[in-house]
Amino acid sequence: MRILVTGGAGYIGATAVAILLSKGFEVSVLDDCSTGHKDSIPENVRFIRGSILDSTAIEDALTGCNAVMHFAGKSLVSESVEKPDLYRNVNIEGTRLLLEQMQYMGLKKIVFSSSASTYGDPAISPTPETQIGIPTNPYGESKLAVDEMLARESSVNGISAISLRYFNVAGAININGQWLAERHNPETHLIPMVLRSKPDEPVKIFGTDWPTPDGTCIRDYVHVIDLVDAHVSALNSLDAPSHTIINVGGGIGYSVREVITASSRALGYDIPTVDASRRQGDPAILVADISRAKSLLNWEPVRNLEDMVRDTAHSIHPVR
Ligand code: UFG
Repeated sequence: MRILVTGGAGYIGATAVAILLSKGFEVSVLDDCSTGHKDSIPENVRFIRGSILDSTAIEDALTGCNAVMHFAGKSLVSESVEKPDLYRNVNIEGTRLLLEQMQYMGLKKIVFSSSASTYGDPAISPTPETQIGIPTNPYGESKLAVDEMLARESSVNGISAISLRYFNVAGAININGQWLAERHNPETHLIPMVLRSKPDEPVKIFGTDWPTPDGTCIRDYVHVIDLVDAHVSALNSLDAPSHTIINVGGGIGYSVREVITASSRALGYDIPTVDASRRQGDPAILVADISRAKSLLNWEPVRNLEDMVRDTAHSIHPVR
């Protein structure tokens, strides 16, 4: 079975490629390398360098494939506030073109990278998939629009689709002694920023006046290997025409200060920090209710926050 991994040169996509290959799948990758890295893609993968906005590249990439894992897209909350049109174009129009081409070529199965950002500032926490989404930023709006597009596509054209709503992804995979690192430029995610923190460049804590017990934002962290395992379970469960939304998180909320404390413990030194103002577009609390993933995918995470901090640290500063 051959899987097209769009965005397979990126952090999560490349981890998916590695795990799919280890499970015996054949893999094709479509990536324009605007944020991903070609050197993350193994030699035995069919690589098409092209944009998710280019129908000819999509058609080429889909050739010979049986199903799609769709990771390609823009994924930074703060960037989306500055460039909403970019997010609408790449995330929504890119997926529309992909689905159009899948329909044309008779491909029916897709696992999509949705996001907890679709919920906005949810009234219920831990948040179930039934929560109505009112996103607080253009990134979340774009992911919600694609979830709705997939629902329509399943009833109109009979595709079998699962939207996995990611919470905060961290950690890294080690393949044959090499860490597949998160290499974002610029880096904005909390755990890599915590690991880069130095006395003269301390990590900023964005907001200390949120309505949470310690005043900092609460998020739910999931290891990238656990996340990809959820994708493989989702892929294997695709069958009849349907669209299902499934949260993928750890099911536990940690405040920014708790992440910093856990990181200090895992690393064995005090992380330098500085209090800063709130970051635009951030909700106060995002924690997953993962009961649907447990019941439909027979999936639950097996790695904890310290595993994520430790593996991210190894991947950023390789330890031999
Ligand atoms: N934060 C800091 N300092 C930093 C970086 C982040 O205090 O230097 C805070 C943020 O304000 C936020 C939390 O740490 O409260 C996590 O921020 P990240 O940037 O690591 O992640 P986000 O929560 O903004 O977003 C991530 C993914 C999205 C996904 C979302 C779902 O990037 O794609 O998680 O929960 F939608």
